Formats: sequence, structure tokens, C-alpha cells
Amino acid sequence: MISWDEYQEEGDAIEATQAPIVEAAVVEAAKIEATIAETAPSEAPIAPEVVAQILHATTEPVAAEAKAEPTPPINDTLDREALAPADNTVPGAAEKIAAAAAVIAKMDISAGLEELEMGAQRIQVDQKKMINCRADLNQLVPFKYDWAWQKYLDGCANHWMPQEVNMNADIALWKTEGGLSEDERLIVMRSLGYFSTADSLVANNLALAIYRLITNPECRQYILRQAFEEAIHTHAYQYCIESLGMDEGAIFNMYREVPSVAKKASWSLNHTHALSDPNFTTGTPETDQELLRNLVGFYAVTEGIFFYCGFTQILSMGRRNKMTGVAEQFQYILRDESMHLNFGIDVINQIKLENPHLWTEEFQEEVIQMVLEGTQIEIEYARDTMPRGVLGMNAQMMEGYLQFIANRRLAQLGLPEQYPGAQNPFPWMSEIMDLRKEKNFFETRVIEYQTGGALSWD
Ligand SMILES: [Fe+2]
Ligand SMILES: [Fe+2]
Repeated sequence: MISWDEYQEEGDAIEATQAPIVEAAVVEAAKIEATIAETAPSEAPIAPEVVAQILHATTEPVAAEAKAEPTPPINDTLDREALAPADNTVPGAAEKIAAAAAVIAKMDISAGLEELEMGAQRIQVDQKKMINCRADLNQLVPFKYDWAWQKYLDGCANHWMPQEVNMNADIALWKTEGGLSEDERLIVMRSLGYFSTADSLVANNLALAIYRLITNPECRQYILRQAFEEAIHTHAYQYCIESLGMDEGAIFNMYREVPSVAKKASWSLNHTHALSDPNFTTGTPETDQELLRNLVGFYAVTEGIFFYCGFTQILSMGRRNKMTGVAEQFQYILRDESMHLNFGIDVINQIKLENPHLWTEEFQEEVIQMVLEGTQIEIEYARDTMPRGVLGMNAQMMEGYLQFIANRRLAQLGLPEQYPGAQNPFPWMSEIMDLRKEKNFFETRVIEYQTGGALSWD
């Protein structure tokens, strides 16, 4: 390892070594500039072959000199003598540096501006739009959607990592014969089987499908945060699977092997295909609606319905003091997921507001249909994972809960409820989702987990 003092000395040595090369390069660059002025007087960018030709004609003496005194090889251990050769030359370096200087001298800084509606003008807040915006997306401020920025800050404040959760009690219980009933074991296996790949589907949809189509920097900032949270969730499931010594191949491949799990994954995948095509762009009513279908399919149905049977089952297990580590991981994940869901609903509603022509009656019917399909798939999953009553619940209670959840999703999207009178049989689930009521739910440890608290100047 190199100490700081040595590092500085190395730096000085490198600087001293390179000084004559840089001087030579400046001379070479000046020669090249002069030649370029003679041979290519226009403002047009210089073709690489022209630069190569010029270099070949003007740098021969440097190359010859370098050939006469070859530089010792630089090894990985930063050998000081190797870094400071006696003749202070590196073969070909002067030409390369001169070529770089020549290119930078002629660089066109207007590149990219032609794609923007207002050229190099400063951004005004009313130029920002959720989709099909042609204002500069590299400038985060001025904010238009404060709710998106606030969700980014809240997501960061809730940061957590899977290894911080103690899994010892879970490992002991899982490995004790008769510690859990067969029905309880099935729930743990199915939950980890579905979620271990579901969060990858969501992350891939964010990064490979919707990120480039949501044309607002503060929303993109949240999407990047969400994508990292999805990585943490996949990590959490992997951590549980590894801790419990499960057959990893069987669990991670469950979304292809077990029909009730495969149906959920396939439904989500079907709603990302169109947008995953790199040639897909928005800008017509049809393609804008395709983006909306994806947002409804992932935020309102996948994250807003498909996660709820498994979450409720595992959290109910935790309330009964079983698999408390897994349940604690799921509790953090649910807290993140409820924010993902709310963000997605806000994005969809904002797109509706800015593009009312997309929200036709026919399209509204289609969205209702999507929510009902998702609810039916999740009800089937509940029946498959709870053939009998378990953990104080059964498939019929879960069906009622999922209908209650579906009504909420429809209402959040401004659509009529389809399951009149559905009630929530698990009110404790709402309590877990509410960030401000966060408390020591499983009595495993204090879980007021926050990092990077907000700055206060009072
Ligand atoms: Fe997730
Ligand atoms: Fe999520």
C-alpha cells in the first residue's frame, strides 16, 4: 500500500516526467493547427483520417527519438524508477496528446442542443412535462413536481440493508423439525419464490422500459432511487434464501415452474414487452397509451396487487412470532413498496392531467379490466398458497382483502370501484404501510430506522 506522502511524491514524479511531453505536445498541436488552417480552413469538424495524416507528416522526429530510447515497462506495483524514466519520454505519447489537443480545439459544443426545443435557453418550469418533453432533461431544477422530489428524499431517509436484520431465530425455527407447519413452510417457500424474481422484473421494467420515456428529471431521480430499492429487495430475498439454506435454484426458478407464481410473472412480463423494444417511442395517442398500460400494469397491479397476498401472509407470521427476521425484511420492503405504488399513481394521474385525450372511456374500461385481471390472478395465488386456514387467515378472507385493495387502486386512478362493500379484514396491514406510525411491530428491535436525516438550519 502507498502512504499519502509517497502518493504525493509519486504524483510529483509523474508531473515532472510528463512536463516535457506536454511542452512537446503543445508545439506539435501548434504545428497541427497551422497545417489544419492551411488544409482545412472551413469550420467543419476535422475527419479522423485528416488528423492521422497530419500527425504522420509532422511527428516523425518525436517518434524517431522515442524509438531510440524505449521506456521501461510500468508494472502494477507503481515502481518509482519505471514511472520516472531517465529520458522523460513515452513512445507515441506526444502524438496522442497533440491529437487530443487538436480535437478539443475544434470541438463543437452545440452537440445535442438541436434535440431541445429551446436550444441553450434556461429552463422555465412550465416547459417541463411528464412525457414527450423536449426541454433539457439534464437540469433537475426548477422543480415542477415537488411530490416526486419529496418522495426521492423520503426514500433516501428510509434507507436500509438486509444484513442489518438478525436472521438467527428464523434459521433455528426453519431447521427445527415441526417448528413450522407444512402450510406455513409452503407460504415461506412460495413468497420467496415469487418475490425473488418479481423485484427483478420491476427493476428491469424501470431501467429498460420506462426510465427513458418519463421525460422529467425529478421523476427520473425518484425512479433511480426506486431502482436501487428494488435491488435491495432482491438482495433481501436472496439473503433470506441463503440464510435458511434453501435450494436456491428451485426458489429462483419458481416463476417458471409453479403455475400460480408463473401466472403473476407472465402477466407482468406481457406488460413490458412493447416498451422494452429499443425502437419504441411515445408521441402518438397509441404509444402514449401503451406507456400508460405499462405504468398501470407495474405500479398499480404488480406492485399494488401482486405483492399483497405474500406480504400479508409473511407479516401475519411475524405477528405470531414466527420467522421474525424474514417478516422484518418484508416489513421494510412493504414500506418502500407503498411509496413506489403512490409514486406510480401520481405519475399516471399527472399524465392524465396533461394529456386528457389519452384517458378515453374505452381506455378507462381497459384499465379497469387490467385491475380485475390482476385481482383474479392474486386470488388464485391465495387459494394455491392457502389450501386450508393458516396463520389466522384463509383464502376467502384474502379474497375479500384483495377486492378491498382493488377498489382502492381503482379509486386512486379515478375509476369506479368494482367490488361494492369490500371490507379490509386485516386492518393491521394499513398500520405497517403508514410510515409515520412506524413502531416496534414485531418486538424484535426498535425499527425507527432512518439515515441521512433532513438538514435543519434552526
Ligand atoms: Fe421491490
Ligand atoms: Fe417496488
